[in-house]
Amino acid sequence: MIEAGKTYLVMGLLDPDSIAYAIGKTIESFGGKVIYTVQNDIIKRRFLDREGALSDEERKTIDFRYCDITDEAQTKQLFSEVGPLAGIVHSIAFANPRTALGQEFHTDAVEDLKTAHHISCISLATVLRLGQANLGEGGSVVAMTFDTSRVYPFYNWMGVQKAALEALVKALARRHGRDLIRVNAVSSGPLETKAASKIPGFSGIETVWSQSSPLPWDTTKDKQAVANAVVFLLSPYAEKITGQTLVVDGGASVVAGQLCDFERPTA
Ligand SMILES: NC(=O)c1ccc[n+]([C@@H]2O[C@H](COP(=O)([O-])OP(=O)(O)OC[C@H]3O[C@@H](n4cnc5c(N)ncnc54)[C@H](O)[C@@H]3O)[C@@H](O)[C@H]2O)c1
Repeated sequence: MIEAGKTYLVMGLLDPDSIAYAIGKTIESFGGKVIYTVQNDIIKRRFLDREGALSDEERKTIDFRYCDITDEAQTKQLFSEVGPLAGIVHSIAFANPRTALGQEFHTDAVEDLKTAHHISCISLATVLRLGQANLGEGGSVVAMTFDTSRVYPFYNWMGVQKAALEALVKALARRHGRDLIRVNAVSSGPLETKAASKIPGFSGIETVWSQSSPLPWDTTKDKQAVANAVVFLLSPYAEKITGQTLVVDGGASVVAGQLCDFERPTA
């Protein structure tokens, strides 16, 4: 599915629980070469180097560069170093949980909201602006989003970022069609990761899925299903798909209310 031997940049590796890691492993399983980005050395030491996070073998073979997406010079440097790419995965988001997420939606922490918008949304445009030359023969860019068809408690300003991100995906698809670059998003159901653990009330979101997903949804195992969809969008099988959000959520987002007892998955 992935073009064997070609290189894919997977941005946003924190630890082996990251969606980025599942995507990278899936690309490699099809013979693609993966370069990850890690935000900074502190993140690497705290999470990736954590005892038992990676086997010694994985630690030796993993190819990564540092990139804080808000650092223009570092991001430029990254794209000057990684060479030709067939695809880029943007798996990056941040919002201060103390101000932008929580029981109260309103906040006067406007600088936090700007930071959230920069990291979680604008950065996708930065990736295309600075990485376009690396996708010289055309290619595919995939971003990660979460259900924007409904409004969730606690998710607050991150929900706003995801809606903006999906609008940006469409704008970038229009802008980069002429470059034969496709831009899409995958909207994932809830998955256990570090970012998810920072969302107050994340267990409530998991409960929504257990009550409304027509297909069984496993917040750990289904990372693979999400990674598969990303890899599909990266691949030539998706050659005429751009500007889209592909929903991989067990069907929860189309269900009105909760499933009735007789509708619940038996597995
Ligand atoms: N986990 C879920 O339930 C879920 C569901 C739908 C979408 N997503 C999205 O998937 C993506 C990946 O999140 P995840 O759940 O794998 O969590 P994660 O914590 O493993 O990944 C988030 C990544 O964003 C990076 N990041 C934050 N600020 C950055 C910056 N300034 N520069 C560079 N990188 C920065 C972090 O270092 C981390 O690697 C995010 O866009 C997230 O919103 C997650």
